[in-house]
Amino acid sequence: DKAGFKHYMLKEIYEQPAVTHAAFEDRIKDGLVDESAFGEQAAVIFDQVKQVQIIACGTSYHAGMIAKYWMEGLAGIPCHVEVASEYRYRPVVISEGTLFISISQSGETADTLAALRDVQDQILASLTICNVPASSLVRESDLNLMTNAGPEIGVASTKAFTTQLVGLLLTTLVLGRRFKLSQEKEREIVALLAQLPGLMEHAIKMDGSIEEMSQAFAEKNHSLFLGRGTLYPVAMEGALKLKEISYIHAEAYPAGELKHGPLALVDKDMPVVTVAPRNEMLDKLKANLQEVSARGGELFVFAGCSQEVQPGEGIHVLEMPEVPEVLEPIVYTVPLQLLSYHVAVLKGTDVDQPRNLAKSVTVE
Ligand code: M6R
Repeated sequence: DKAGFKHYMLKEIYEQPAVTHAAFEDRIKDGLVDESAFGEQAAVIFDQVKQVQIIACGTSYHAGMIAKYWMEGLAGIPCHVEVASEYRYRPVVISEGTLFISISQSGETADTLAALRDVQDQILASLTICNVPASSLVRESDLNLMTNAGPEIGVASTKAFTTQLVGLLLTTLVLGRRFKLSQEKEREIVALLAQLPGLMEHAIKMDGSIEEMSQAFAEKNHSLFLGRGTLYPVAMEGALKLKEISYIHAEAYPAGELKHGPLALVDKDMPVVTVAPRNEMLDKLKANLQEVSARGGELFVFAGCSQEVQPGEGIHVLEMPEVPEVLEPIVYTVPLQLLSYHVAVLKGTDVDQPRNLAKSVTVE
């Protein structure tokens, strides 16, 4: 049931204010994260964690990349992230006290499941962040955190991703207590989470201006997505969405890598999308952006008004709500989902069932 929406993907994008709320609401107790949400053994296991290894594929891998910024940046937890299809086929060194976190919407992805099975006897314990309670990954993991996104029908993952991010933020907080995260900081982040549904709502209201923006992409063959910090994986996710459903080649780069190669590609036929972070790196990013526009490239910048990015020739600014830094990757994902959706609709592709792809990759 598409509930009046033209596609499941659009319906699922619009569900995000509600489902991101469902991803944390029952897990908060007295202003802190209730770690029993992860399973009975959670406290005993978490006490022994020395580092984290995250494994996932596709969109779920991008969620893992964002979690690494959080784990190391907010809480000082050593964290590695790798795509399952690489990890499982190479000899790996697993340090003592490793919590193995698999992230998966379906809980049935063959490579992710195989990676978990391969390391079972070398890890401290396993935790799955998953959307399907009855799935194989959930059954085979020591601890689980359900994302509570509800069934996701569109092949392009949307609400599963943003709810995974909420789950990974909660995971960072409970583990972070054992590392460098103060209780005060945890309270502060938990309090910020309450703003999330409203911010997601606000981002969805940008739909009309993004639909307009999508016209600049429909006739193009290539595009570039730039971001820094946690917004680099968000740029990767935006690029994946565009490739997956509109079949336009899209590549993501950390903004600082631009002049190390990809800048040579930029011309009027290569639109560049930037998700602008609100942090000390903004000035450098602005300098990068000027280099692109000087080469005739067309820039689309998603930024909060306090970032003072000025529109100009070839520079389009799409105004985002002001977002607390820790929530930026969750909120900034929404307009990129909407962009890929509208470009695909303009191109007339099969939005919910893109060619050559399956919702759940249960074979290698
Ligand atoms: O079910 P999973 O999260 O394990 O699936 C992983 C990928 O196959 C999945 O995220 C894929 O990349 C999506 N179709 C992207 O939109």
